[in-house]
Amino acid sequence: MNQTRTILFVFITLLLSAATSCTQKATVFESQGCGTCHKPSEGVANPSLINISESYNGMEDQLVQYLKEEAEPVINPQKAGIMKPYLEKTKTLSDADLKNLADFIMSHKQ
Ligand code: HEC
Repeated sequence: MNQTRTILFVFITLLLSAATSCTQKATVFESQGCGTCHKPSEGVANPSLINISESYNGMEDQLVQYLKEEAEPVINPQKAGIMKPYLEKTKTLSDADLKNLADFIMSHKQ
């Protein structure tokens, strides 16, 4: 009986921590309002998350630099003005939040 309870407890704890880490990943992206323009798979003027993750394939560091306004945009520089106000916000984020944001974007790579 006790053992069943322990197993159940461990199982629930694992489940909860998995659920929390998923929500945290989406949170920075959602709380900064990025999802209004960037959808997982649709969008040309506002590049989709799949498009961004593929353009930055293997260059997650550069993606973080871009979000800190330390690297130039690579996808649609003519439209960079639209992103400018959001980069003003992302460049003030902590390194942990930036990593979270970049991980979330890169998780859309197919
Ligand atoms: C009002 C619409 C809008 C919002 C909101 C928005 N973006 Fe963008 N984003 C764009 C447009 C348009 C581009 C294309 C311009 C470009 O590539 O520089 C873009 C491009 C990008 C790129 C690719 C940059 C490159 O290398 O070309 C990334 C990464 C990105 N956005 C992340 C974000 C994040 C993170 C947020 C939230 C903090 C966000 N965007 C909010 C419109 C938006």
